Amino acid sequence: MSNTVFITGTSSGLGRATARLFQARGWNVVATMRRPEHENELDRLDNTLVARLDVQDNVSIHAAVEAGLERFGRIDALINNAGYGTYGPLEATSQEKIARQFDVNVLGLIATTKALLSHFRANRGGTIVNVSSIGGRITFPLNSLYHGTKFAVEGLSEALQYELAPLGIEVKIVQPGGIDTDFGGRSLDVSNDPGLVEYQPLVQKAIEVLGPMMAQGSSPERIAEVVYAATVDTTGQLRWEAGADAVALLAERRASSDTAFFSGMKARFGIEGAK
Ligand SMILES: NC(=O)c1ccc[n+]([C@@H]2O[C@H](COP(=O)([O-])OP(=O)(O)OC[C@H]3O[C@@H](n4cnc5c(N)ncnc54)[C@H](OP(=O)(O)O)[C@@H]3O)[C@@H](O)[C@H]2O)c1
Repeated sequence: MSNTVFITGTSSGLGRATARLFQARGWNVVATMRRPEHENELDRLDNTLVARLDVQDNVSIHAAVEAGLERFGRIDALINNAGYGTYGPLEATSQEKIARQFDVNVLGLIATTKALLSHFRANRGGTIVNVSSIGGRITFPLNSLYHGTKFAVEGLSEALQYELAPLGIEVKIVQPGGIDTDFGGRSLDVSNDPGLVEYQPLVQKAIEVLGPMMAQGSSPERIAEVVYAATVDTTGQLRWEAGADAVALLAERRASSDTAFFSGMKARFGIEGAK
């Protein structure tokens, strides 16, 4: 019998590539997305169920899990992929945008995980793969909220492995570097207020530095291979770095003290001021 994977955020980017890859490798796929009515590719694949799921809507999460179980009888792996980035000075970002960032990237991931835990517990097995980021280990200027969410994903995933291991449930964290997806385009939620003049030099500098970095991202297909490897791995490895840039940057971070790393980052972004 084929294994079944349940994936959030399959309308584009990494989630979509991951759905395609698992399907090509013979898995049943529950490909969830906010607007399945716009889908016209995944719903034509064999052994693939496209279901509506908005991680901010608990009813839709439970309905998608039920639909997946009804169609395939069992779910073996959950890929918590849905997420996006809020970007800009904290002071210029509305409380509503801040709440939404944590709601989608953290609370939505938790709600989806909870919706599958009783099933995994009853089966005495299941794998949860949380898509974090190098941004769950390394920080860049003007990304405080996104990093806050991905550091949260790292911490909660790491701690969760302890209570789930005795139940036969595994937790994995995938840490991509840049991926060439809609992340830096339609999914990026930018806030700025030109009236907050003190922040504007950094806003300009960050565009110069981060723009080219984002343009050198891995393909989503390449990162999906790492998600797949993490899902099927049986060695107990928790963290999976994904992409050459991720491997290089995370190694650089591990090799540096906080002081050295932060100084280097400040120099790169032309940041002066309080030490
Ligand atoms: N691209 C990068 O450089 C990069 C690097 C490291 C980590 N990541 C992580 O990779 C994951 C996938 O991002 P991506 O790069 O593939 O970007 P993407 O192409 O923009 O895909 C993001 C996906 O998340 C979905 N989503 C957003 N809000 C949602 C909600 N409330 N409920 C359900 N789905 C929702 C989007 O659906 P809609 O179509 O409905 O908006 C879309 O399917 C994210 O967790 C991101 O943080 C990305």
